[in-house]
Amino acid sequence: MRDALKARVEHGVFGYTAPPEELRAAIVDRLAARYGWRVEPSWIVFLPGVVPGLHVAARRLLAPGERALVPTPVYQHFKRAVELAPRPHTEVPLVLQDGRWVFDFDVIKRTPARVAYLCNPQNPGGTVFTRAELLRLAELTRDATIVSDEIHCDLVLDRGAKHVPIASLAPEISRRTVTLMSANKAFNFPAAGCAWAVVEEAQLREAMSADARAHALPSPSVFGYIATLAALREGDAWLAAQIEYLRGNRDLVASRSLPARSSARRASSD
Ligand SMILES: Cc1ncc(COP(=O)(O)O)c(C=O)c1O
Repeated sequence: MRDALKARVEHGVFGYTAPPEELRAAIVDRLAARYGWRVEPSWIVFLPGVVPGLHVAARRLLAPGERALVPTPVYQHFKRAVELAPRPHTEVPLVLQDGRWVFDFDVIKRTPARVAYLCNPQNPGGTVFTRAELLRLAELTRDATIVSDEIHCDLVLDRGAKHVPIASLAPEISRRTVTLMSANKAFNFPAAGCAWAVVEEAQLREAMSADARAHALPSPSVFGYIATLAALREGDAWLAAQIEYLRGNRDLVASRSLPARSSARRASSD
């Protein structure tokens, strides 16, 4: 990736730029290869970040007064997006079941909403939602648009877990889903600024593109495009090694957590 960035610097011209077609193709290929998810290049809307995508969704997919479902606890910018829009929202608590944080489906069942936010894999908590859980969520939110932040999809550490893009489950779900993605978490270059939304349905795509088209949102930087293309096309060996390294860290922390927890309990009972 550094070589690709160096070559782009050497190019020496840094005018406004359009997303490279090659990058659309790299995203399409990757989603098919890793997740068996077939998307069209034209469904991809480039954004400067996933967080701007959360904000665009709150402002453009919800009319004033329309309600969103937001999981809790969740990465802070989900709640900020609906609060700043501002749009009413209902928090959907995640509950601990067999060591995994999963949705309280009862809250979803009794709350009509126009948009359902999803964070998959979930931050915090790390849940990689199963196909069955995602299908249940989709069934209970069948009148809503699903806005699914899948930025951590390539950072699944559990060998038994597999990321499933919710939009890949069925054509009906794909048509009402906005999937927000970026290579910047897995490959750790968030300052380069490049993300994308996968949006099949034309009106939703129009809504998700409106701010970038009006230049109210910047396009990704030229370096963001280049870094993302290099990561997706050439980064798999690096990513595999990185995941092994992170597993090692996770196992180390897990192996040491019991004494730390019991001394914390002793301290609090003193
Ligand atoms: C769930 C989640 N979404 C989005 C982001 C940030 O996305 P971006 O830097 O592309 O705006 C983070 C960063 O930690 C995150 O945890």
